[in-house]
Amino acid sequence: MSDMVRVVDHPLVQHKLTLMRERGTPSAVFRQLLREISFLLAYEVLRDLPTASKTIETPIAEMQAPVLSGKKLVLVSILRAGNGLLDGMLDLIPSARVGHIGLYRDPETLAAVEYYLKLPDHICERPVIAVDPMLATGNSASAAIGRLKQAGARDIKFACLLAAPEGIAAVGKAHPDVHVYTAAIDSHLDDHGYIVPGLGDAGDRMYGTK
Ligand code: URA
Repeated sequence: MSDMVRVVDHPLVQHKLTLMRERGTPSAVFRQLLREISFLLAYEVLRDLPTASKTIETPIAEMQAPVLSGKKLVLVSILRAGNGLLDGMLDLIPSARVGHIGLYRDPETLAAVEYYLKLPDHICERPVIAVDPMLATGNSASAAIGRLKQAGARDIKFACLLAAPEGIAAVGKAHPDVHVYTAAIDSHLDDHGYIVPGLGDAGDRMYGTK
């Protein structure tokens, strides 16, 4: 596997993912699990955030202690399912700036069609994490990353919950500079572009729309 893809295979992540995959898991539990996994994914995705030293006083002594430094990062949710990963990550990094990209899949061609875009200023100077639970065909992810690059972003990572080999290959081809983080890589896509075995439609499972 390409060294641009990192599978976060921690047992806690895998256990929670199994619960999410199960057909009978209610939407409220599904959302809670996604939130919990987003913390664990963020831990890996943000491993190389820069830090600086600050002088503090503990109750015992003065010390030089690390704090996050550098420009505030940007989290970009690919609507609508991306919001499930965004919410948890934002809890962890409340000072992050947030962007949204609305893309839907044309049911015939599976191509990504943009219907909404709102990004923070100065995106070119900030690390950007794009989030979408499902990396299926890779069309939405590639289009979203392309849009972020057009807006000036240079340091982009993509975080998802589940990936198909087809999606990883597509993003790797279109954007070889972008690291992809996922909790698992499944077998393949079905004829409708769903990940097999997957977990179904992430947006529907989150919001109970089907
Ligand atoms: N989007 C989803 O929500 N699920 C899939 O399996 C593929 C794309």
